[in-house]
Order: sequence, then C-alpha cells, then structure tokens
Amino acid sequence: MSLQSQTVAPARNVSGEITVPGDKSISHRVAMLGAMADGVSEVTGFLRSEDCLNTLAAMRRLGANVEDDGASIRITGTGGALRQPRDVLDLGNSGTGIRLLAGLLAGQPLTAELTGDASLRSRPMGRIASPLAAMGANVELLGAQGGAPIRVTGGPLNAIRYALPMASAQVKSAVLLAGLAVAGETVVIEPRPTRDHTERLMQAMGLDLEVDGLTITLRSPGLEKLGLRAGNWAVPGDFSSAAFWITAGAMAPGREIVIRAVGLNPRRTALIDVLRRMGADIEVALDSVTGAWEETGTVRVRGNQLQATEVGGDEIPNLIDELPLVAVAASVAGGVTVVREAAELRVKESDRIATICRNLKLNGVAAEEAPDGFRVSGGTVRGGAVVQSFGDHRIAMAMAVLALSAENPVEIRDIACIATSYPTFWQDLARVTST
Ligand code: S3P
Repeated sequence: MSLQSQTVAPARNVSGEITVPGDKSISHRVAMLGAMADGVSEVTGFLRSEDCLNTLAAMRRLGANVEDDGASIRITGTGGALRQPRDVLDLGNSGTGIRLLAGLLAGQPLTAELTGDASLRSRPMGRIASPLAAMGANVELLGAQGGAPIRVTGGPLNAIRYALPMASAQVKSAVLLAGLAVAGETVVIEPRPTRDHTERLMQAMGLDLEVDGLTITLRSPGLEKLGLRAGNWAVPGDFSSAAFWITAGAMAPGREIVIRAVGLNPRRTALIDVLRRMGADIEVALDSVTGAWEETGTVRVRGNQLQATEVGGDEIPNLIDELPLVAVAASVAGGVTVVREAAELRVKESDRIATICRNLKLNGVAAEEAPDGFRVSGGTVRGGAVVQSFGDHRIAMAMAVLALSAENPVEIRDIACIATSYPTFWQDLARVTST
C-alpha cells in the first residue's frame, strides 16, 4: 500500500464489528492537563496519532515526564509549573494542539513559539489571541496569513468574562486553560453548545467548574495552589473515527456494522440523529460504568435507502467534523440535502465546503457550495475519479466511504494525512469490507 495514494473499490458487502482508536480531542486534553497535575496519570486508549503525539512531545519539552510502554502512557505532571522550552514547539497539523496549548501557556511565566504545518499556517489564530490578550498574555501572530507560527509570552492573568464570537470548543478551551492561572473566576459564554471534554476533565481533576446552560464558570485557586489530581484515564474510542463506519453502514440496505467502546458524549453524536432522519436504523447502548467521566457504548447501524435532510443550528458544532460524511451520505440519498450555518468548515484542515464539493462533483455527484454550507442532490454515484485529500485527513477518509457506494473505484491521493487522526483506518476499512 502506498502512503501517497489508495484506490478504493465499490464494496459488495459492508459488515462487521470493530473498535476504533482513542478520541483525539480527549487525548490532547489528557496530555495537557496531565502535564499540569500533581503526580502520575496513567492513560489507556491514548490516541497515538501524529497530532496527539505532537502534543505529548510538546508537554515533555515543557517539563512533564512521559513514558509509553505500549499498553499505557504515564504522564508525570509538573504541579502547574511548566518549564521554559528550549526549542519551537511543533504541533504539526493540529488546530486543537496549537490553540489549547497557547491557552495553557498564556498563564505561565515563559515565552514559547508554537508552529505547525502549511495548513496550520493558514488557519486563524486571532480567535485565541484576542481573549488571551484581554486576559493579559501577549500572543504574537508571526505567520503571514494570521496563522502559525505564534509566540506566547505568558504571565499573571486577569479574570475575564468572555462571550465567544463563534461556536468553538478550541477557543473555549484555550480560555479555560488560561483560566487555570487566574485565582478567581473565568467565565466563558458560548453561542451554541460545543464539545465539553475540557470542562469534564477539569471537573474530574478536582477543579471547581460550573456549567449553567451556555455559561461556564471556572474558579481556579491559581497556579501555586492548583492541585490538579492525576488519575487513571481510559480514553474512549473516537466517535469521529467511528463516524466513517456508521456512515458507511448506513448508506445501503443489507449493510450492518457494530462499533464497541466508542465515546458517546452527547455533544459529539448528532451524526446519529442526522442519519436516523435520513432513514438509517441505528441502535445505541450505553455501557454502564459508574463514575465514568465520558460516556461510552455500542453503536449498531443497519443500512437503508436514505432520504435527504436539512442540517443547521445547534446540530452544527455537534457534528462539525462529520459534515463531510453528511455530504457523502447525501450523495446516495433521495432528494436534496442542505447544510447551513457551517461556515466554520472553511477554516478546518482544508476549506471543507470547497474540498468536499469538488471531490463529490468529480465523482458525478451534484454538489453545490454556499458561503456557509452546501447542497447535495443524491442518486447514483458514478465514481471513477482521482481525488486529492488537500492534506485533510477527514476529506481523504470520507472519499473512501463514498467509494464503497460508487459504481467505479475512486483513487485517493495524498493520504499520509490520515495518520494525524486515524492511523489504522485502512486496516479497519479492510475489516468491514472483507467478507
Ligand atoms: C475540537 C474542536 C473543533 C473540531 C476539532 C476538535 C476540539 O474545532 O473541529 O476537530 O478538540 O476542541 P473548533 O473548536 O475550532 O470548532
């Protein structure tokens, strides 16, 4: 198998049982907060993908001790006092890595330069620079396009009450992580609910954090008295990785896929609601683990002839990373599927409105861009095209799912990016299409 290109043939059968690798969002947060804790955190299920390994390496350079014996990762925290890094910290392809780390460093008495790949250099960093500056940190945007690299000079911070201008868990988390250094209240107000992994982990580590509707209040004792509890963290399977198989399973009658031990945080699972509306038969059974800080469970999906739907509003942040898959499912659904209020897609690893529409059209699907979303008219998918990933892992994997339902094989180019989030994607694809 070439790292650079993969041809995916139409599938005769899509079925089987799989588990998916650990959650990317949670792995980043466990790495960062584990490095701030008192004592040793033992982490199982940590996602060993390029993005999360870059974050782990950064935490090591900032003074945490990290050991990986293959079964679990042990992070010895710094008790809240990170060390001045000697080199630039490279977060690779990860918006979550760079934005959350900038927040964490904003409260530390040090200067650090954070950088990333070509994609991160073009992604907006002003959205974290402005609240962090309002708190008293200095975040310099060194990149030509308002993206990476950035230089963070941290120090004593002020309490802030910040109304997020966009629904973004990354920006919310950056402010909350900076808030660790504030002996007082940090308040963040969201325009719509976004993933709450930071809040949950902070609470599980013993912080006083209160959620009231869309308002989050963190009352930190400040860095000297932080006292974050290290713990044993079992990172659930990533719902956004399971989403490829949930969608593949939903797209035709006769298909059936079961995914076990997957994270089912309700701020992440709107794709299930959307696919059900489109006609898929999806059963969800929560695992009954008392005291689990993130829900897990089993998802069983049976396919159907799908019908079009409309997606917007509060659902958007809840399935922001799954919207390329909604477009793929819409390609075989009867009628016109419309996605709106999703302009954030334009500032992901690629401009996902442009890249998904372009790739669908190359395969004979009628897809149309809007400034804040897309329209897809479903029917048969001709396939047969050579498509680019545009360096975007989710676009590459979504095209593989499309190919399973196409009339002709699809060649996907520039697929090394898949390693940023889902290193075993091709093995799992083979598993659900082998019988
Ligand atoms: C993430 C938040 C989302 C999402 C990204 C991961 C996180 O980004 O798209 O893949 O872990 O907080 P935004 O907060 O920028 O919408």
